[in-house]
Amino acid sequence: MRGQLISIDDLTRGDIERILGRAESFAEVSGREIKKVPTLRGRTVINLFYEASTRTSSSFELAAKRLSADLLNVKAQGSAVDKGESLKDTVQTLSAYDPAAIVIRSPHVGAAQLVARWSAAAVINAGDGKREHPTQALLDLYTLRRRVGSLEGLKVWIVGDVLHSRVARSNILAFSRMGCEVTVCGPPTLIPREVETLGCQVRYSLEGMGEAHVVYALRMQLERMRGSFVPSLREYAARFQIDGRRLSPQQLLMHPGPVNRGVELAAEVIDSPQALIEQQVESGVVVRMAVLYELLAGGSPGDAARGVQPAEAATEPQPA
Ligand code: NCD
Repeated sequence: MRGQLISIDDLTRGDIERILGRAESFAEVSGREIKKVPTLRGRTVINLFYEASTRTSSSFELAAKRLSADLLNVKAQGSAVDKGESLKDTVQTLSAYDPAAIVIRSPHVGAAQLVARWSAAAVINAGDGKREHPTQALLDLYTLRRRVGSLEGLKVWIVGDVLHSRVARSNILAFSRMGCEVTVCGPPTLIPREVETLGCQVRYSLEGMGEAHVVYALRMQLERMRGSFVPSLREYAARFQIDGRRLSPQQLLMHPGPVNRGVELAAEVIDSPQALIEQQVESGVVVRMAVLYELLAGGSPGDAARGVQPAEAATEPQPA
């Protein structure tokens, strides 16, 4: 993992284990009254969001603040982007502040990669179109591991609008890297061609979902749908909605949020103890702290072998 997190493919299983372990130690910090460590004091993190976000932007913000970084939030709306400034110009302008990291969310596939090319900062992909959302996948692994322990051999069904979901793509890669057996399920119009090559099986109905230890439901991404992919949301719900009848009591339920209540999930399962949805949100902060730490302060075993010194403060988290 070198200077950027664009895709789960940037990470080995060892990298993932190290980030999850680091997140555990930050969870301990988050339990304290003063939830701050000095690790990134004097360094600048820029959150550059070209798309709506509640969970991802707020948790990156909290993560940077809890590491004592100076944080700059730039939203497309209200910035010069509104006036037609290009991504490249925006990144070059913001580079004048010498950021240590840029967190970028964009509706365009490949945006994070471009930012990494244009900037000397560490770049974290917080969602690029329908391609990837690696920190979501990491926080999902973290949440699930906290609940069940080892992930090895777990059967995970990812259900819904796989075609438009960057979360699905990152999670197929992440769950399978950790030894899970992944199945994606949805109507044929919402399953991308050749998705199997990412390392999953494909099903076009919920039949057989009883085998899953974890059901990971996806939002119907209506804002990305050009044309009609399902006859109607009601028909989609009739065939694919996860409800109390379809989810058995020992299965766990996950969803990245925001949930369309009554479409992909019925109210009774959202609010059930099987649902990890709230814990997923909670995990967002410590996992994003761990990712910032890894990129800006941690160094990796590979670095040590090459004699590269971590930037600074590569110590265990300390109280501020
Ligand atoms: C996801 C996203 O934006 O990709 N949400 C999130 O980051 N928690 C999934 C979604 O919007 O459905």
